[in-house]
Amino acid sequence: MTVTIVGSQLGDEGKGALVDLWGGDADVVVRYQGGDNAGHTVVEGGTEYKLSLVPSGAVRGKVGVLGNGCVVNPNTLFSEIDDLRDRGLDPDVRVAERAHVILPYHRVLDGIEEKAKSGSDLAAGTTKRGIGPTYEDKAGRRGVRVGDLLDSDVLRDRLEYVVPQKRALADAVYGLDVDEGEHADAFDVDALFERYRAIGERLADEEMTVNAGDFLGNRLDGGDELLFEGAQGTSIDIDHGIYPFVTSSNPTAGGAATGTGVGPTVIGRGEVVGIVKAYLSRVGTGPLPTELDGNKADEELADYIREKGGEFGTVTGRPRRIGWLDMPMLRHATRANGFTGLAVNHIDVLAGLDAIKVGHAYELNGETIETMPSTTERWGDCEPVLRSFEPWPEVDWTDVSESGYDAIPENAQAYLEYISDELDVLIYAIGVGPDREETIALANPFEQ
Ligand code: GDP
Ligand code: IMO
Ligand code: MG
Repeated sequence: MTVTIVGSQLGDEGKGALVDLWGGDADVVVRYQGGDNAGHTVVEGGTEYKLSLVPSGAVRGKVGVLGNGCVVNPNTLFSEIDDLRDRGLDPDVRVAERAHVILPYHRVLDGIEEKAKSGSDLAAGTTKRGIGPTYEDKAGRRGVRVGDLLDSDVLRDRLEYVVPQKRALADAVYGLDVDEGEHADAFDVDALFERYRAIGERLADEEMTVNAGDFLGNRLDGGDELLFEGAQGTSIDIDHGIYPFVTSSNPTAGGAATGTGVGPTVIGRGEVVGIVKAYLSRVGTGPLPTELDGNKADEELADYIREKGGEFGTVTGRPRRIGWLDMPMLRHATRANGFTGLAVNHIDVLAGLDAIKVGHAYELNGETIETMPSTTERWGDCEPVLRSFEPWPEVDWTDVSESGYDAIPENAQAYLEYISDELDVLIYAIGVGPDREETIALANPFEQ
């Protein structure tokens, strides 16, 4: 069967921790979208791993697959694999031949476009990893795929077609010097050809490339359990998120089918688990109705949560914006993904506050609404209808995780039950700290 893990909010909900928890029962862990914009943290017995491309199952020695829906920067992939090897792991990663390659010019263009937009309302605050420009080329049928790196004639043809376009764009639109200086190699067909042909050789030598649909289909036929590891989150999905402040792929559960070649009926027969952070964090721009800002008390509270929760971007180190839990956002995510279960993380971070609030609904033009409007501008006009919850005290969360659900402070239980009741979805796990041992598992999705 399959279990699909999806971010229900704005990314960084703690997906890596749950992939690690349930990865113990999986045979293969599969990323289906995104690239090295992701930063997934796994903490095992106090040792922390931060993974951008290698699927989080690597910590448990599981086979990892980067599906065709991913965009792959091979340099990041190799350096991550090398780092993990240095740390004593032996990651077995396969890459879909249909996945698109992030080339150096994609990163340069991501950076200069963000710079050009800075100061305007359009900047998304991207991770500058070249994600958007690579997906643009995929949709524009001018991308380079992993399989192309294995065939030097095809690679040469693709580069000869696309690089002059990138040179013209960088030069004419952004005034970049593409012939001299630090970016010259990123726009030079010969340099790119030599470098990426060598990368293709390493991928072939290490037998890393696969036809993802066939590979995964065969594993399923052989009785293997597959865990799909979503990156980013529903509200930064290119279709269902807060466009244009989104990433350029589909983190939502449908992406697990298109991004791997495993059919939607197979994925639909499995479990789809929404990962929820007990409050909101956001790296990037755009509105955020329940954001804690605008007055000193809220900003101090945001600072406190940010410090306590370690809310600084895994990839970029940027401080994350903080807000109260947003229920309309979660109702939208529940519908878009068809969650069969939830994991709620970070309830320990909210412990000890004087008051806990939740955006239960929105007020928009005198009306109360319970889901997100479909334009980001109207979303920005929404005023949250806040509901207060009784706070819960700071406790020894290690003890709580050893004892189980009943040891969770009662007011935190009430908070969890509210979330589950509102969304009409059961909670499978509760995070009370970053470590694998600090997750209270109530149900195992592989046994549902
Ligand atoms: P991901 O991108 O969804 O995998 O999440 P990130 O790894 O970017 O960010 C989540 C952060 O919270 C990481 O530092 C995790 O180690 C940490 N974390 C995960 N679950 C919990 C939890 O329940 N409590 C606390 N305090 N930290 C958690
Ligand atoms: P994980 O998998 C949080 C955000 C960026 C930016 C927008 C577009 O760790 O949850 P991109 O570089 O993708 O073109 O940037 O999306 N973003 C994330 N925010 N968690 C992530 O991944 C993110 N990946 C991208 O900050 O606003
Ligand atoms: Mg992250």
